[in-house]
Amino acid sequence: MASRFIALLLFVSSALALPSPQLEKRQSACATSSTIPGYNNTILPNPFQFDDGTPVTTADDWACRRSQIAALIQGYEAGYLPPAPPIVSATFSQSGTTGTLNVTAGLSTTNTVSFSNTITYPSGTAPSSGWPLVIAYDILTIPVPDGIATLVYDNDEIAQENSLASRGVGLFYDLYGANATASAMTAWVWGTSRIIDALEQTSAANINTAKIAVTGCSRDGKGALMAGAYETRFALTIPQDGDDVQQATEIVTEDPWFSVNFDNYVYDISVLPYDHHELAAMVAPRGLISYENTEYEWLSPLSAYGCMSAAHTVYQALGIPDYHGFVEVGNHSHCYFPDSLDDSLYAFFDKFLLDEPQTNTSYFYTNYAFNGTVWDPSYWINWTTPDLS
Ligand SMILES: *[C@@H]1O[C@H](CO)[C@@H](O)[C@H](O)[C@H]1NC(C)=O
Ligand SMILES: *[C@@H]1O[C@H](CO)[C@@H](O)[C@H](O)[C@H]1NC(C)=O
Ligand SMILES: *[C@@H]1O[C@H](CO)[C@@H](O)[C@H](O)[C@H]1NC(C)=O
Ligand SMILES: *[C@@H]1O[C@H](CO)[C@@H](O)[C@H](O)[C@H]1NC(C)=O
Ligand SMILES: *[C@@H]1O[C@H](CO)[C@@H](O)[C@H](O)[C@H]1NC(C)=O
Ligand SMILES: *[C@@H]1O[C@H](CO)[C@@H](O)[C@H](O)[C@H]1NC(C)=O
Ligand SMILES: *[C@@H]1O[C@H](CO)[C@@H](O)[C@H](O)[C@H]1NC(C)=O
Repeated sequence: MASRFIALLLFVSSALALPSPQLEKRQSACATSSTIPGYNNTILPNPFQFDDGTPVTTADDWACRRSQIAALIQGYEAGYLPPAPPIVSATFSQSGTTGTLNVTAGLSTTNTVSFSNTITYPSGTAPSSGWPLVIAYDILTIPVPDGIATLVYDNDEIAQENSLASRGVGLFYDLYGANATASAMTAWVWGTSRIIDALEQTSAANINTAKIAVTGCSRDGKGALMAGAYETRFALTIPQDGDDVQQATEIVTEDPWFSVNFDNYVYDISVLPYDHHELAAMVAPRGLISYENTEYEWLSPLSAYGCMSAAHTVYQALGIPDYHGFVEVGNHSHCYFPDSLDDSLYAFFDKFLLDEPQTNTSYFYTNYAFNGTVWDPSYWINWTTPDLS
């Protein structure tokens, strides 16, 4: 099984080579486009600039800018993420602390797919608004405190990732057709959204759908970040552990994590008018804590720190820097979560899932194990962080 993290080193791009027309209407600045032809920039793209070059100046502007970033990432890299299909239904049964949520999604009554999910409940009495929940891609690799239910999500059933030959295989493609442009990463997001749809209509499942976190490790960490970025019903996003960083040219040869369209850009990523700091920033203003492992090599830790430092400027601009945590240490194996990281993790659970909003979640740490190289923010970031709050 592939286990490499895909913290793509998409450190690139020139700020917009587009003219900067006066902003006539907020709406025109906010129009979403799936590509920006002619873009070329070797440093990180400015998250505070609309596609047309006008500045992002308010929190509402950020919501617009976020929708533009969402469209660009689909356009170049992720493929099309369909909205909820017309049919989403669910059945639920429970035995002791084990619940079974069967989700059916359909485009018509003759074109449906179903998948089953096991929910593990805490013992004891549920809060009046229902249990908080952690959805873990593939396998649960982080500790979860008492009082939170867990659901291990079989993302590979939704979209396979055995090799490039598995592109288009899985329930998502059974429903939308093998020609759907969505990559596996995108199809997985769609599956998490259908689980939340199902939970919203299934009161017997007793999950508080305002208190759901998503997590995953390695490639599933990227998957969890995609889910938190695109599905705004996730209150908290917890990606864990890169390993070896993979360059864009390499990553597209391994598994169908990206759309085939992305192959066109991997040799000149400076034409991409976004980078993954903006994928992380799409989670804002919701909670995000990511963990990176410096045990194996230095390029992935360096890029993760740089990427998250750049994403952090969006949380700073919104006046909520503590909603975005980052902790980067080594001395542990891949996807192992050392006890020393519990404090930060539990603080984020307390604040975002367990109704303890006063909890201090100011965690932004790296051990700088970059093999003598440095992250030079003045090289990569040439924007001034505005005050949007
Ligand atoms: C940032 O860099 C881009 C690309 O080189 C350039 O077009 C833009 O003018 C720069 N912005 C500032 C404020 O220096
Ligand atoms: C982008 O700019 C770089 C450096 O200026 C150049 O080498 C590259 O060919 C350009 N790419 C495109 C698609 O224009
Ligand atoms: C889920 O429900 C559908 C529709 O009722 C049914 O066809 C399917 O067998 C069920 N799957 C599981 C795993 O229970
Ligand atoms: C999918 O695309 C292939 C190649 O373009 C084409 O031959 C096939 O008819 C398409 N299938 C559907 C269901 O659209
Ligand atoms: C790494 O972990 C081992 C075993 O837990 C411990 O003995 C050692 O002190 C740790 N080293 C560092 C640098 O933290
Ligand atoms: C939160 O924790 C950080 C890091 O320990 C500390 O610097 C900061 O003062 C704390 N903030 C509050 C309000 O206690
Ligand atoms: C770390 O840096 C040294 C000195 O530049 C270099 O020889 C070595 O190959 C680097 N290690 C890795 C894993 O890149």
